[in-house]
Amino acid sequence: MNRRLGVLISGRGSNLQSIIDAIAAGVLDASIAVVISNRPNAAGLERAKSVGLTTVVLRTQDYATRENYDRALVEVLRAHEVSLVCLAGFMRLVGAPLLEAFPQRILNIHPSLLPSFPGLHAQAQALSHGVVVSGATVHFVDADLDAGPIIAQVAVPVLADDSEETLAARILIQEHRLYPDAIATVLAGRWRIEGRRFLSSQD
Ligand code: GRF
Repeated sequence: MNRRLGVLISGRGSNLQSIIDAIAAGVLDASIAVVISNRPNAAGLERAKSVGLTTVVLRTQDYATRENYDRALVEVLRAHEVSLVCLAGFMRLVGAPLLEAFPQRILNIHPSLLPSFPGLHAQAQALSHGVVVSGATVHFVDADLDAGPIIAQVAVPVLADDSEETLAARILIQEHRLYPDAIATVLAGRWRIEGRRFLSSQD
């Protein structure tokens, strides 16, 4: 696998920033070949441009079907010779064309300990459920929402006086360590998937 990443974003891009920073610091041996956003005003695009990364905006409304949209994503990722796709706050379900083009090559980060609290507002779900521990998960993307094999997780305490914002902020700090580490683990190879389990011989 080459070490060229494609990072897909929809908004703020703080996880994109953590990947940029890990590469710059030499702790993640990879390069970002392209940053793709489905929203032209995503703040993450500015972060990418400010360090000279190539950015592409693919607006969903410019494509008649979800399949066409996913095909366009594949085209851009292939044109930039991407071997690993990292979803970083990309607010869209990934469809068959992308999954088939990058089998076991698409990662996502989610702000809960999956399989608890998939989907939107994971931190609010954790709070209203009353859990005392939540966290973040990096997993492979498959056809189901936030459901593929788990690569790495980190636990974060939920405090009695947490709001959605304070819990999200505490989790986010850990996301920023977890995602670059998980990408490095996947790029290092020497792993396999058995059933749902991600097994790395580096462990
Ligand atoms: C993060 O909490 C991530 O786990 C979730 O969406 C949020 C994206 O934040 N999938 P950012 O755009 O990376 O700052």
